[in-house]
Amino acid sequence: MKELLQTLGPVCAVIGAQWGDEGKGKVIDILAEHFDVIARACGGANAGHTIVVNGKKHVFHLLPAGSLHEKKILLGSGMVIHLPTLLEEIQTLRDAGIDVVPRLSISAGAHIVLDYYRDIDGVMEQRRTETSGGKIGTTKRGIGPAYIEKAARSGMRMGNLSGYFSSPIKADLGKELRVRKTLAKEMFGVDVDTTTEEANLRAAYDTVGSCVIQMDEVFTLLQGTGKRILIEGAQATLLDIDHGTYPYVTSSSTTVAGALQGLGLPPKMLTSCIGVAKAYCTRVGEGEFLTEETGEIGERLRERGGEYGATTGRPRRCGWLHMPDLNFSTHINGFSCWNITKLDVLDEEDIIRVGGPRGTDGTVTFTELPGWKTSTRGITAFEDLPKNAQTFLRLIEERTSVPVNFIGTGPGREEMICRS
Ligand code: GDP
Ligand code: IMO
Ligand code: MG
Repeated sequence: MKELLQTLGPVCAVIGAQWGDEGKGKVIDILAEHFDVIARACGGANAGHTIVVNGKKHVFHLLPAGSLHEKKILLGSGMVIHLPTLLEEIQTLRDAGIDVVPRLSISAGAHIVLDYYRDIDGVMEQRRTETSGGKIGTTKRGIGPAYIEKAARSGMRMGNLSGYFSSPIKADLGKELRVRKTLAKEMFGVDVDTTTEEANLRAAYDTVGSCVIQMDEVFTLLQGTGKRILIEGAQATLLDIDHGTYPYVTSSSTTVAGALQGLGLPPKMLTSCIGVAKAYCTRVGEGEFLTEETGEIGERLRERGGEYGATTGRPRRCGWLHMPDLNFSTHINGFSCWNITKLDVLDEEDIIRVGGPRGTDGTVTFTELPGWKTSTRGITAFEDLPKNAQTFLRLIEERTSVPVNFIGTGPGREEMICRS
């Protein structure tokens, strides 16, 4: 691990290479103890990052999955934050004896997801179903509406909170909410409960108001001498608003470039980027999935992999690894190495299929490898893996020209092969 950490260097990003839920949270949790600042850059509570420590499951939506470690936590400007969800997460950790507030910083530039954005999200999905190519299958966490507000420059930001509740000349929150209420009704037929919205903002100000920092303080936090920064990507490359499978994407920039932008971190500071991909592939929501298995195989992967969304509980669509997607993600993010996760889920497969380019008839060509038919669960050394599993991982290395340095062999913190 020591050698591996050296190659990662002081500023490391962890980025999903598929359609999310690759297991980013787990590698973040493992690496976090070696860094000083753990930062989420983009997205919101559409993310669900699950880690398992001593058999106990922890799910993070807004706080980084590295939050169990006594490190500084940053929620960057690129994020959209649903405040009641954040407070709930803080409380859950408090119940477990961990208070993150003293080490939490939130950029004043991060946007607030008001409660009614979630209703608008639902209405927009319904309208898509009725009028266009169909719904996206969003998490209904108000992500799209929050980024619409941001792009329209009418969003409410974390930096606004103090103006509402503490400045000598108070900004008129009541008026702001009344205007929003009228607009939401006119445009989407959505009712805004201004009392609840105000109470949510107040509660957030009381709990995390002191955590809000200005951009120059963000720079100091991130660029202070000798700081080691771990960047926790959310969502994943194929869900990127610019480079993903549009329109079946999220509304933020999920690539490494988006993460740097979301934090305000100069690209030259980045020393490594870990690409995270499952040993197979999953997707929640609509959109193309060329290697999807809709029958028995998909069902088996779903059950063995526990493929149900951490945010919405929806069953994830399952299929095989698709090499062109891994190469695409590598090109966009410049991965230094892979974390191939959930290898153990394939333990009982007779044949492992790996999707390649499309043939002349438009369908994906597959390479078929023999399975290993033995448990890899909990293995921590590459040499201890069955030969066929090693061959599978080497194929990924050969076809992407990126080394596989982390291999997940179970959900637990210790169930990981780290090799350099
Ligand atoms: P994220 O959104 O990328 O952080 O991934 P999620 O947490 O949404 O989904 C990954 C799921 O797989 C979680 O339930 C993890 O506990 C689990 N997981 C992660 N790595 C492994 C692994 O190597 N093997 C197995 N069996 N489960 C894993
Ligand atoms: P993590 O960080 C998997 C998907 C949704 C939907 C599309 C748009 O846990 O990997 P949105 O609510 O963002 O407007 O939904 O994006 N999606 C995710 N899928 N993992 C995620 O995050 C996701 N975040 C968004 O399912 O298809
Ligand atoms: Mg997830």
